[in-house]
Amino acid sequence: MKTQVAIVGGGPAGLLLSQLLHLSGIDNVVIERRSRDYVLSRIRAGVLESGTVRVLTEAGVGDRVAREGQPHEGVELSWHDERLRIDLEGLTGETVVVYGQTEVTRDLYDAAEARDAIVLHEAAVKRIEGIEGEEPVVVYEKDGAEHRLEARFVAGCDGYHGPARQMIPDGTRREFERAYPFGWLGLLSRTPPAAPELIYATHERGFALCSMRSDTVSRYYIQVPIGEEATDWTADRFWEELKRRIPVDVARSLITDGEVLEMSVAPLRSFVCEPMRHGSLFLAGDAAHIVPPTGAKGLNLAVSDVHYLHQALDLHFNHHTSAGIDGYSAKALSRVWKAERFSWTMTTMLHDFPQYEPFEKRMQKAEFDYLTRSETARRGLAENYIGLPL
Ligand code: FAD
Ligand code: DHB
Repeated sequence: MKTQVAIVGGGPAGLLLSQLLHLSGIDNVVIERRSRDYVLSRIRAGVLESGTVRVLTEAGVGDRVAREGQPHEGVELSWHDERLRIDLEGLTGETVVVYGQTEVTRDLYDAAEARDAIVLHEAAVKRIEGIEGEEPVVVYEKDGAEHRLEARFVAGCDGYHGPARQMIPDGTRREFERAYPFGWLGLLSRTPPAAPELIYATHERGFALCSMRSDTVSRYYIQVPIGEEATDWTADRFWEELKRRIPVDVARSLITDGEVLEMSVAPLRSFVCEPMRHGSLFLAGDAAHIVPPTGAKGLNLAVSDVHYLHQALDLHFNHHTSAGIDGYSAKALSRVWKAERFSWTMTTMLHDFPQYEPFEKRMQKAEFDYLTRSETARRGLAENYIGLPL
């Protein structure tokens, strides 16, 4: 089989790239290791920047997010019972949109089906040959047999654990990493949200987040020590722990008697791979970088990478200039590092770190107090939260 762009990974990055390339008349094939149902069952991000919504709309998959996504004009931070609203709209003129990653992926799958896109499922990429030349080959396994897909370019959209990044030679690839000594235990429930806006709650027992998917489905997270698994917890224990960490008023009115739809643990990590292009291989999304979820940036960064990569490939195939592909890595990384900084700052300010001494704890509280007193500080947070310009 032969195509113009082989896309490794059918998560949001790979599917969105496929859709945008299709609209530019560029042939592509997506190879995804899992089944469609498996990909759609992964509960992940929930907050979209308005720039992300614009890219989805450009890609022709913006109808449902426009109808069902909930614009949020603000978010709250809390420190025990002290509450601080960040007026995103008032400070920046923009909002964020609450719309689950699962829904984004579903919209992209529906669009792919409608245009008869080639998305190979349960097909695992083993290696990519010839990325230093102009005829790379993606070697994948499906139904027990090995297959080859020839392409002009390969897009590695295969997440943190995928093989694409490893194809960049050791001497060229640089990786920057910070692991955190905790994870987030998430619970999705058929219950109304705790509050109209998200609450990022700091407490000496650990961080907690009250989020939502709709008026009837809520998403909550609590910080747990690294190594802890969802099976170590019952829903009742989760609710009790959450209530201890969020403001008393919110805890008192929290509705917990609804079906628990999912519980899972996500580890927290900061990670960047440089460069994001080597020869005919490009990386986009979690394949190239991971942020801790505290700033709600992971999915949004995957979308901004894909936006840049689509522009670059469009210039190459339709306007015969290599300026876009030559500049892709530097352009994407410049935005990535700023989101890494923001996610790391939010994580550091809001979590309980076991190694922290009283000094660091006072620093965290001073940061919260500064935000409370300074509109300039709040504007800085808001500008990053709603998403830096594309
Ligand atoms: P992925 O969604 O990881 O997609 C990569 C795809 O590649 C997968 O479908 C995978 O099956 C496929 N693949 C891997 N290897 C191969 C192979 N060899 N061959 C073929 N296909 C392959 N972000 C937030 O903002 N908020 C959150 O709450 C949040 N929670 C998260 C929880 C977890 C457990 C994880 C892992 C991430 C979370 N994120 C969150 C981050 C966000 O979900 C990601 O940034 C986003 O999924 C990135 O999309 P992607 O398409 O780059 O990667
Ligand atoms: C959600 C996840 C996040 O990481 C975040 O910062 C906000 C919301 C969510 O899953 O709803």
